[in-house]
Amino acid sequence: MKYNKFNKKDKSDYNLVFIYEDKLSGISKSIDCSAALKDIKEAISKKLLCGKIGSMVTFVSTMYDSNYFLIGLGKKNELTIQKFEKQLSSIIKKINEYDIDKVTIDLNNISINNYDVLKGSIIEFEKSKYNFKKDETNHLKECCMKVPNNINKRTFDNTKVISLAIAHGLNTARKLGDTPPNICNPTFLAKESKKLEKLHKNLKVEILDEKQMRTLKMGSLLSVSQGSLQPAKLVIIKYMPIKNKQPIVLVGKGITFDTGGISLKPSSSMDEMKYDMSGAGSVVGTMQACAEMNLKNNVIGILACAENMPSGIATRPGDVVKSMSGITIEILNTDAEGRLVLCDALTFSKKYKPRYILDMATLTGACLVGLGKYPSGLFSNDSTLTQKIKKSADVTGDRVWELPLYSDYFDELKSNFADIQNIGGRYGGAITAAAFLANFTKDEKWAHLDIAGTAWESGDNKGSTGRPVKLLTDFVMTNK
Ligand code: BES
Ligand code: MN
Ligand code: ZN
Repeated sequence: MKYNKFNKKDKSDYNLVFIYEDKLSGISKSIDCSAALKDIKEAISKKLLCGKIGSMVTFVSTMYDSNYFLIGLGKKNELTIQKFEKQLSSIIKKINEYDIDKVTIDLNNISINNYDVLKGSIIEFEKSKYNFKKDETNHLKECCMKVPNNINKRTFDNTKVISLAIAHGLNTARKLGDTPPNICNPTFLAKESKKLEKLHKNLKVEILDEKQMRTLKMGSLLSVSQGSLQPAKLVIIKYMPIKNKQPIVLVGKGITFDTGGISLKPSSSMDEMKYDMSGAGSVVGTMQACAEMNLKNNVIGILACAENMPSGIATRPGDVVKSMSGITIEILNTDAEGRLVLCDALTFSKKYKPRYILDMATLTGACLVGLGKYPSGLFSNDSTLTQKIKKSADVTGDRVWELPLYSDYFDELKSNFADIQNIGGRYGGAITAAAFLANFTKDEKWAHLDIAGTAWESGDNKGSTGRPVKLLTDFVMTNK
């Protein structure tokens, strides 16, 4: 799809204009056609146009030079980037029901940082192009963008390149998440990552197989794939354009299907456990975005890929394994497998001397129960890093909520038979899971995002969301 900065001579048949319920009178600036403006004012006086969030009124007439979609954003000072993108996304869906191939969007009136709004808008339009079942989806081919004066042609073009890179990465993450688990297995994730190396000469991809992982003594990660016919893979995606600069390392949980293992899950909605590789998917998407935008920062992505299956040779509850760090683990529940693959990947990541380590994982149902579907759970052992992640979450609308890591939670992981056990007590499951990981990152600046509630949507719009690619790309862009 094409995006142009709006020119006076651009003729637009379809204009998207945003309005506020408490600033309806400000509308005149955005409507060039006087006949349309007259009708719009009439509609306001008759209360047919209110500007409430989620509302849309169409003004179409042969008397007008162009047609208008007026989209309500609610109260002006209550607008957030996340609300704006949500409204834009539903408008784009509606527009795609018509045969419209070109629209003009007016971003002058949005009360959020101009650059974030432009970036967010391009990403929303690109997101609408994704459809798992079809390649070419909708009619919309071109978008003219009216932007505030402080965005000149150069800034516009740069923002476009960055936004497209992020959107492509995001759609890659969605595609990987949506791919069924009989296709998307650890070997598939490794191959898809290898493909990136072909497309982007600035990326290097290494793949470790089970034998190499055994040599590295990754007993914890290997205990998860033990019951599956699919061999585990550790994928390392390196983007290191700058000499002598410590990288940011992103680690993703890549469980391509989570049955629970011998601690078998109930069968209802077990199909959703194909999304249990979404952390790894978001890392692939972010690495792709880095390469595509030619980011001036060093980033390494690590995918901990395995399938969690029950079988005659699967790990049993009660088994004790030794992780790469030397810490021994009593596995009391084979369904708490994410932390078992992640702990070895986290230990492995230290060899790159990272500035920061971030891990992304659909780690616990408890996180979904506690925070719902809107923010990802955030845990960290470093307050500066926490602030940086919160900032990226704020500007991208890819929201997070911090949960505490008190020492009490660590006490719940004490075992009589090993250094630690892989589950805590009945309550606070998202936190005991994070505390488990924290045992392996003591000397690092580390953060963990539990994306169990945010990586996919259930119901009618069932599918992968590509979160938290927007947060991660912002983080690697702003922490050079
Ligand atoms: N992949 C699941 C977490 C999950 C559950 C994500 C539901 C999204 C929706 C994870 O491997 C898991 O099974 N966690 C267990 C941990 C428990 C056994 C301590 C859970 O959350 O029930
Ligand atoms: Mn599980
Ligand atoms: Zn899992």
